[in-house]
Amino acid sequence: MASKPLTLLGIETSCDETAAAVVRGTVPGPGEILSNIVFSQTEAHAPYGGVVPEIASRAHLEILDGIIERALSEAKISLAELDGIAATAGPGLIGGVMVGLTTAKALALGSGKPLVAVNHLMGHALTARLTHGVEFPFLLLLVSGGHCQLVGVGGVDDFRLYGSTIDDAVGEAFDKTAKILGLPYPGGPAVEAAAKNGNSKAYDLPRPLLGKRGSGRAGADFSFSGLKTALRQLAETKVSVEDASASFQAAVIDILRDRTRIAMAMFRRDFPNGNKLVLAGGVAANQAIGAGLNKLCAEEDFTALIPPPRLCTDNAAMIAWAGVERLSAGGAGDALSVSPRARWPLADTAS
Ligand code: KG4
Ligand code: ZN
Repeated sequence: MASKPLTLLGIETSCDETAAAVVRGTVPGPGEILSNIVFSQTEAHAPYGGVVPEIASRAHLEILDGIIERALSEAKISLAELDGIAATAGPGLIGGVMVGLTTAKALALGSGKPLVAVNHLMGHALTARLTHGVEFPFLLLLVSGGHCQLVGVGGVDDFRLYGSTIDDAVGEAFDKTAKILGLPYPGGPAVEAAAKNGNSKAYDLPRPLLGKRGSGRAGADFSFSGLKTALRQLAETKVSVEDASASFQAAVIDILRDRTRIAMAMFRRDFPNGNKLVLAGGVAANQAIGAGLNKLCAEEDFTALIPPPRLCTDNAAMIAWAGVERLSAGGAGDALSVSPRARWPLADTAS
């Protein structure tokens, strides 16, 4: 593959993090993170218990230029020294995506550098190559606020969907659970912290779809809405927040382990020598979930790879790295006319 390292600026604005980063590397990685600036808008959205799209896009617009300047100056690099500019082009909140992508287009036009319009999910998917230099293929468990998927990754443009959620994403389930239990936003870290002091067997919560294999290729689908409803009913009685958090988290771990075990069999059918499980997305920052999946990997003869928490949650280093991958695969970048996309599933290229 490409031998000369590529250096890219990455820009991420698809949700409530305004982020810019400079990454240098060659595929399959690991790459070098020269800077990684993440400004979280959590405080601006906290009073509403969730992300407000209008507040997010306005905040991105106000601070993105300064964040990019910081990323370049911390990396001690000028625009002229870059090999390209990568920005999230979707999926995500369209106003925010437009701010980041338009800024990247202006920088690409002004500097004459290639623009790479990155799929945010691909950024999460390839993070373990940035951090660990993981070779293809690998099984990806992508668990974030907006997504919950099991995907066989055979290459930069080879994503095979084995399962996705039929209702809520797992991060969303954490956020809603926190709200029901009166814990602060964002819910994931708050529920994890409360669960540490709770008894996971205190309440018997449902594990939807457990043990059930769906038909067809999406045999490892997830469902979390039944769990959420049961928790809401439980919370109407007098409950211990710690015990409810621990019981909820234990149910989530059981569901993730069960679905991942099914996807492992599907992955092995596609890639007989495949034996790596990569976790990605904000929920992968959860240590109990990481431990549960590590145990599953030991049982199934897989190796688990989990990027460090700050590269699991939204960041621009993963977007810059996806740009390195795309340009290294021989692409010349994207046209400046490329459009932002609110919805953009990872391509399902399985035959
Ligand atoms: O990947 P991410 O930063 O943004 C999206 O693309 O969605 O993921 C954010 C999600 C939120 O739902 C948040 O509650 C969840 O990840 N999360 C966690 C933890 N840290 C973040 N969920 C469980 N445990 C955590 N420690
Ligand atoms: Zn994300």
